[in-house]
Amino acid sequence: GFEVQIAGSGQVVPVAPGQSVVQALAAHGIDVPVSCEQGVCGTCVMRVVQGEPEHRDMYFSAAEHAANHCFTPCCSRSKSARLVIDF
Ligand code: FES
Repeated sequence: GFEVQIAGSGQVVPVAPGQSVVQALAAHGIDVPVSCEQGVCGTCVMRVVQGEPEHRDMYFSAAEHAANHCFTPCCSRSKSARLVIDF
């Protein structure tokens, strides 16, 4: 697992193995709009402020993945122990 921190509030939310970032945030009362939940549509896209996502979507290009400025919390995970996100 890893944890996400919300840039604005500083709130830290743990993400368990087998749980998506969207599910983890929802369990803490933070609802992220989603549609496909498969990394295709881009509805859920969030900015990455700090940390390195493990991209599992098909929405961004390889160059966008490498830039690590955004990620899709419906399906992507984190290579860093903590991912600081903004949305
Ligand atoms: Fe479609 Fe995340 S909900 S990419």
